[in-house]
Amino acid sequence: MGKIRCAVVGVGNCFAGLVQGIEYYRQNPEQKVIGIMHENMGGYSIHDLDFVAAFDVDSKKVGRPLSEAVYAKPNKVEWVDRLSTMNDVMVIQSPQLDGVGFYVKDKFTPVEDKPEDVLRAEILRELKEKEVEIIVSYLPVGSDKATKFWAQVCLDANVGFVNCMPSFIASEQEWAKKFQEKNIPIVGDDIKSQVGATIVHRKMARLCNERGAKIEKTYQINVGGNTDFLCMKEQERLQSKKISKTEAVQSQLSERLPDDQIYVGPSDFIPFLSNTKLMFMRIEGRMWANIPYNMEVRLEVDDKANSAGIVIDAVRYCKLALDRRIGGPLIGPSAWLMKHPPQQFSDDEARKMAYEFIKG
Ligand SMILES: NC(=O)c1ccc[n+]([C@@H]2O[C@H](COP(=O)([O-])OP(=O)(O)OC[C@H]3O[C@@H](n4cnc5c(N)ncnc54)[C@H](O)[C@@H]3O)[C@@H](O)[C@H]2O)c1
Repeated sequence: MGKIRCAVVGVGNCFAGLVQGIEYYRQNPEQKVIGIMHENMGGYSIHDLDFVAAFDVDSKKVGRPLSEAVYAKPNKVEWVDRLSTMNDVMVIQSPQLDGVGFYVKDKFTPVEDKPEDVLRAEILRELKEKEVEIIVSYLPVGSDKATKFWAQVCLDANVGFVNCMPSFIASEQEWAKKFQEKNIPIVGDDIKSQVGATIVHRKMARLCNERGAKIEKTYQINVGGNTDFLCMKEQERLQSKKISKTEAVQSQLSERLPDDQIYVGPSDFIPFLSNTKLMFMRIEGRMWANIPYNMEVRLEVDDKANSAGIVIDAVRYCKLALDRRIGGPLIGPSAWLMKHPPQQFSDDEARKMAYEFIKG
């Protein structure tokens, strides 16, 4: 089926996990590929993702080959010693806008900003020269302006969009319409990791309801030690992340909980955890004869291994849509792979719709 020509915005830990995972399987061809839902999706394998362009603001990344930038601090993923691809892809400057949060700003030095229209022209030229088909956005939480900038770039350059972060584009009517009108596919918003806090919480909540138990209150607390969690210490940047995470759970309940009976959020940064993410979830409710029950789940995962396979699938759904000239938000794949899709379904329904999409 050929390669999928991608560009990445935000050469951070998530991207490092994605490409180092692909390299791991390249170096270990005898290993069965796990951590994705389809080894072959409509003819595309993990090795068909070709990152031909990259954009960031960090001076340790901009102007360097992508294969090296992936290892630049504060990135923390080191699963393979080096990458055998992307030596000839130079990281290009992106406008900073609201990308750099208060707590992360002493972790790296952004390159000196240039006027937005100058950068836009350089970016559009790069996308055209490299014949990019899909942009994957790994911008930091709270980068609403930067996300809109990149969404507009996709529309201007006629390029598909995979929005891995929680600034709403696919799930926002005005933007969804723009992608629909230009017949450009978009998968979004905010990755729902493979065995992550969201899918576990959704499934457990549904299980209680489907078995007839009442849910009265629930919380989900997440902690981690990478720049994503450091960035999320800034409450003002968290608004859409909290909506995304809370709605992902509320949408699965047979009766919505009052706002003060549900708490779902990233809650703190613990530096020594690095890319390990811990999730603590509790559901409280009542069953037969009004007798109380409660349930607690503790999940420990490598946050980056947990998201990479989902994004590889999202890119391949986007490519299938491009091949079939389907545009606008991809409803089934977004509901299956993202926390805040244009439309929420149960995960079983979403999976069915996504798999039907593959079959065409
Ligand atoms: N399991 C997961 O890891 C997971 C799940 C859901 C969503 N996400 C989201 O994915 C996104 C990426 O996460 P991460 O861990 O890679 O973050 P990160 O902090 O490691 O990387 C962010 C990168 O973006 C760059 N950047 C900052 N401003 C920019 C701008 N204006 N233009 C271009 N680049 C810019 C930074 O220099 C950095 O390289 C976050 O929004 C995160 O919340 C991650």
